[in-house]
Amino acid sequence: VAWAIVLLGQKLSEGKTKQIFELVDESGLVLVQSKDQITAGNAVRKDQMEGKAAIANKTTSCVFKLLQESGIKTAYVKQHSDTAFIAAHCEMIPIEWVCRRVATGSFLKRNPGVKEGFRFSPLKMEMFFKDDANNDPQWSEEQLLEAKFSLAGLTIGQCEVDIMNRSTVAIFEILEKSWATQNCTLVDMKIEFGVNVKTQEIVLADVIDNDSWRLWPAGDRSQQKDKQVYRDLKEVTPEAMQMVKRNFEWVSERVKLLLEHQAGGRVVVLMGSTSDVAHCEKIRKACTSYGIPCILRVTSAHKGPDETLRIKAEYEGDGIPTVFVAVAGRSNGLGPVMSGNTAYPVINCPPLTPDWGAQDVWSSLRMPSGLGCSTILSPEAAAQFAAQIFGLTDHLVWCKLRASMLNTWVSLKLADKKLQACSL
Ligand SMILES: Nc1ncnc2c1ncn2[C@@H]1O[C@H](COP(=O)(O)OP(=O)(O)OP(=O)(O)O)[C@@H](O)[C@H]1O
Ligand SMILES: *[C@@H]1O[C@H](CO)[C@@H](O)[C@H](O)[C@H]1NC(C)=O
Ligand SMILES: *[C@@H]1O[C@H](CO)[C@@H](O)[C@H](O)[C@H]1NC(C)=O
Ligand SMILES: *[C@@H]1O[C@H](CO)[C@@H](O)[C@H](O)[C@H]1NC(C)=O
Ligand SMILES: *[C@@H]1O[C@H](CO)[C@@H](O)[C@H](O)[C@H]1NC(C)=O
Ligand SMILES: [Mg+2]
Repeated sequence: VAWAIVLLGQKLSEGKTKQIFELVDESGLVLVQSKDQITAGNAVRKDQMEGKAAIANKTTSCVFKLLQESGIKTAYVKQHSDTAFIAAHCEMIPIEWVCRRVATGSFLKRNPGVKEGFRFSPLKMEMFFKDDANNDPQWSEEQLLEAKFSLAGLTIGQCEVDIMNRSTVAIFEILEKSWATQNCTLVDMKIEFGVNVKTQEIVLADVIDNDSWRLWPAGDRSQQKDKQVYRDLKEVTPEAMQMVKRNFEWVSERVKLLLEHQAGGRVVVLMGSTSDVAHCEKIRKACTSYGIPCILRVTSAHKGPDETLRIKAEYEGDGIPTVFVAVAGRSNGLGPVMSGNTAYPVINCPPLTPDWGAQDVWSSLRMPSGLGCSTILSPEAAAQFAAQIFGLTDHLVWCKLRASMLNTWVSLKLADKKLQACSL
């Protein structure tokens, strides 16, 4: 691979695992460069591990790509080289957000009596102030509020804390769902947020790599593939380090698979007449935003039922999971006829008109017995429902739905904050 050349400006910071450089030609962006070493117990144990930076690079890149494509706001911009990526320049909020599904590690020490393996539903959230000198003390929400951090001109108040809390849960659920496709339990995770210096938005920043989570294949602690293996080493021998590295490689190989669709599906929109094509295009556009292929066909169950059933058979014949959407104005015969003759889901999405809509809708609602079609009036919502059906088996679709829910919640929160500020 030939990587692009960028002009590095000042080194903005250097930590235990990476260096951050300004980019001369791109204000607002930085280069995040991994260092070839692994640390544990606050760098007490520091060993060079050849190739580790490259593996970390791959893990971070894939995970951020997954989150980005799902719709989560992150600092990540693009891969730059084997060991570096370009990111939005952030002022980092000095908090580690920890999210747990299964109790293990330090949680057990701080909560004696809780057995390893206790499952948190809802997820357990904790935060730690990043302060190496004091071993990163656990903080309460109140402590964070009282600290009144101001970063890139944004004061971290209740609104910002709530956004980070909610985002952490959504990010965990997206990664958990994705790892489940590889039979891996995401046990816990720690992440950091920054304030984008250009947009003043709170975004997921820093990295997500092996150091950031515990992964148990098939939910089995003894097969763990994360950095705990390294922490647990009694003695750092070359053989032991090889094992840790093999584990790391195991994860970085699998992390690529997280970006692949589990089950291909499609939406087939049947319209009674081409006069409904604009309505159908809205459905197709929304399906595309979820990464679901969508095909439009014209057929009338009233005027050409043989054709309707032939088209149905065409899509039943190739084994691809299909959701049918029926778009028929006036009397909707199309959806009910489809629904009575296929085991695939059918969604009625009638294009209602102001004059007769209130009457016409009943042809989509009042069904003979034995029909399970649903009716959704908004074309975007019909596509969303189809996505929710595919999301049951395709994690990438599910992740987009999950991120969209978070983004809606954050937008409302910010709108409320803005309105409150105006009325003061
Ligand atoms: N997109 C970004 N913009 C600006 N700074 C960043 C960005 N991503 C990460 N950083 C910061 O780069 C610094 C170096 O990272 P590194 O992880 O090596 O530090 P560290 O030794 O682990 O210290 P820390 O305890 O702060 O994580 C950290 O302060 C980190 O917060
Ligand atoms: C770094 O990550 C990118 C993106 O996933 C990948 O193309 C590249 O091969 C990785 N480098 C190494 C050494 O794995
Ligand atoms: C995150 O939000 C949940 C639910 O509102 C709350 O119970 C929890 O205390 C918050 N966690 C932190 C660390 O702020
Ligand atoms: C996950 O486990 C199931 C059942 O044990 C198995 O059939 C499947 O192949 C596994 N999938 C992966 C990706 O390992
Ligand atoms: C994440 O885990 C995999 C496998 O355990 C490892 O190859 C990779 O290097 C890890 N990432 C980091 C930064 O340790
Ligand atoms: Mg760090």
